[in-house]
Amino acid sequence: MSRASIEELAKLAAQGSHRAKVIAVASSKGGVGKTNISANLAICLAAAGKRVALLDADFGLANLDIVLGVTSKYNLSHFIKGGRSLEEICQPACDRVDVICGLCGLEGLANMSDFARERVVKSLELLSDNYDVVVVDTSAGIGKNVLAFCMAADHTVLVSTTEPTSITDVYTLLKVLTKKNYDGRLRLLVNMAQNINEGKKVYRQISMAAA
Ligand SMILES: Nc1ncnc2c1ncn2[C@@H]1O[C@H](COP(=O)(O)OP(=O)(O)O)[C@@H](O)[C@H]1O
Ligand SMILES: [Mg+2]
Repeated sequence: MSRASIEELAKLAAQGSHRAKVIAVASSKGGVGKTNISANLAICLAAAGKRVALLDADFGLANLDIVLGVTSKYNLSHFIKGGRSLEEICQPACDRVDVICGLCGLEGLANMSDFARERVVKSLELLSDNYDVVVVDTSAGIGKNVLAFCMAADHTVLVSTTEPTSITDVYTLLKVLTKKNYDGRLRLLVNMAQNINEGKKVYRQISMAAA
């Protein structure tokens, strides 16, 4: 695992490849900035000339549309129940960035069966033709939904703040992914640090615990 800034992640994902790179943004803990980082990462990649799809995979508490200021015509329910493809439910958010809006509240919890989740994960690949990068904003926790999207991603960005509870939660997610033999690249992004040293300190704490 290594440290990363949004700009570094954007560069990494932009390195030439014919298949869209999938980047999952995860943290175990809520409120650490996953959604804002997903949106900003997508915008940085678009500014670097990449075509980006943003998937709101926070089933139950989906809010990427609000962060992006998008009024959603479609959401994942049109894919899960409505027979539309993920491409068809992608909506423009800003220049070169399209968003796939998630499911809110009970609708999300009721519809995200194992089967539906697997369909969404498998369909990520089908976005490859139209996009260079797919950024997946995941939910809090280490449940099946989060793990399935991280395991399917080429890169997982683990987001932590400097709070001890956030650090331990990220460490737990790191351990679970390692145990599952995750073969993608893991990056740590320390959000809301006061300065670079605070960020480096969190990185050291997690890498020492993981050693
Ligand atoms: N770098 C940052 N600086 C200041 N506020 C931030 C930063 N990152 C996130 N926030 C704020 O923290 C809150 C939680 O962010 P959000 O992206 O919704 O987190 P998550 O998706 O992990 O639950 C929001 O109010 C957001 O505006
Ligand atoms: Mg969120």
